[in-house]
Amino acid sequence: MSYETITAEQRGAVTLVTLNRPKSLNALNSQVCEELIEAFAAFEADDSQGCAVLTGSGDKAFAAGADIKEMADKPAAEFYNEDFFSRWTSRLVKDTRKPWIAAVNGFALGGGCELAMMADFILASENAKFGQPEIKLGVAPGMGGSQRLTLAVGKAKAMEMCLTGRMMDAEEAERSGLVARVIPHDELLDEALKTAATIAGMPPMAAKVNKEMVNAAFEMGLDQGLLHERRLFQILTATEDKKEGMKAFIEKRDGNWKGR
Ligand code: CAA
Repeated sequence: MSYETITAEQRGAVTLVTLNRPKSLNALNSQVCEELIEAFAAFEADDSQGCAVLTGSGDKAFAAGADIKEMADKPAAEFYNEDFFSRWTSRLVKDTRKPWIAAVNGFALGGGCELAMMADFILASENAKFGQPEIKLGVAPGMGGSQRLTLAVGKAKAMEMCLTGRMMDAEEAERSGLVARVIPHDELLDEALKTAATIAGMPPMAAKVNKEMVNAAFEMGLDQGLLHERRLFQILTATEDKKEGMKAFIEKRDGNWKGR
């Protein structure tokens, strides 16, 4: 598949997707959205692929936000009637049941920060900078920032960032729970691919279920979430991979996964 605004390639069992508009700091326009949806659908459908990594091209940015040039003259009625930004969550997040990692290599601002937060977790380079500066453009986050950032870092920091537009550096982002780990800039991609390969080596159904369970913590109350967890756990005990995983442990060898 060839794309114009992204690249997608398979590295063993890992799909590497790269935002590829470096001249505009990988700003996210509608074409990027549609191409990402296609690349992630291909990843999801391919049984040889177990985890994806999303990163930005160039040395400066993961993505500096939704494309301001695309939005500047667009009438409000079009934003509303197209339900602008809805496809990011409905297609990219909800339709991707396999795990994926955002490898944030620079600016992740506005929609860029929001896209990174759609990933299952974020690995950040020491140069990463996160922010929701939409207020300075007379708007507000539209791709989930006010919700996901608040869930990740708590009200005080999320509110301050949204109201002032200030950026958070990688160290603060890790301390605040926004990123899983900070990695030296030059090692980010290798480390993200290595982490993704580890995940891709896990039993595939168990990987999807673990992802679904952790996400449920953001979507359900505690009682409902605990019940959901137990039921999914019980369902996994019926899989061949459960039998194989436990047998392999007892026989002191690696598991040989079937995905069922
Ligand atoms: N949309 C479109 N183009 C963008 C862009 C964006 N979000 N961010 C950067 N660019 C373009 C610039 O216009 C510039 O293009 P030209 O060379 O054609 O002028 C190029 O990328 C390089 O950018 P700068 O010259 O500005 O680079 P810098 O190093 O001086 O500054 C920056 C870097 C601080 C990230 C700055 O580019 C910036 O503030 N960008 C905008 C950040 C922003 O406001 N993001 C939120 C967008 S709205 C949104 O995302 C809504 C939502 O919730 C989904």
